[in-house]
Amino acid sequence: MPRIQLCRVDELEDIDARGFELTQTDPAHDIFIVRNYDNIAAYQNSCPHNHGPLNWLPDIFLSDDKEYIQCVNHGALFELDSGHCIYGPCNGQSLTRIDVEIDDHIIYVVI
Ligand code: FES
Repeated sequence: MPRIQLCRVDELEDIDARGFELTQTDPAHDIFIVRNYDNIAAYQNSCPHNHGPLNWLPDIFLSDDKEYIQCVNHGALFELDSGHCIYGPCNGQSLTRIDVEIDDHIIYVVI
């Protein structure tokens, strides 16, 4: 599986998220990463509720308090580090995780 470079860790705030459209893969993948201090997680940008994107605006994936990933469609809340839904219509389900590697402060996904 190819390893795809995304960005440097220090391009993200301590708690932050950023979306990426991976056109190097076939099919292309719509993903986002979440930094929670030292933990970096990557997820498919697909809500378990309707299997569409979680965001309407670029890079807006977190709740206002940055405690959770929030789906803009119906307000589902997901844990930052696990992607597990703790509130909303898909309560108990999880986002699909993607393997992440950090190499010399650069974030990669293996997809
Ligand atoms: S589509 Fe995400 S909560 Fe409904």
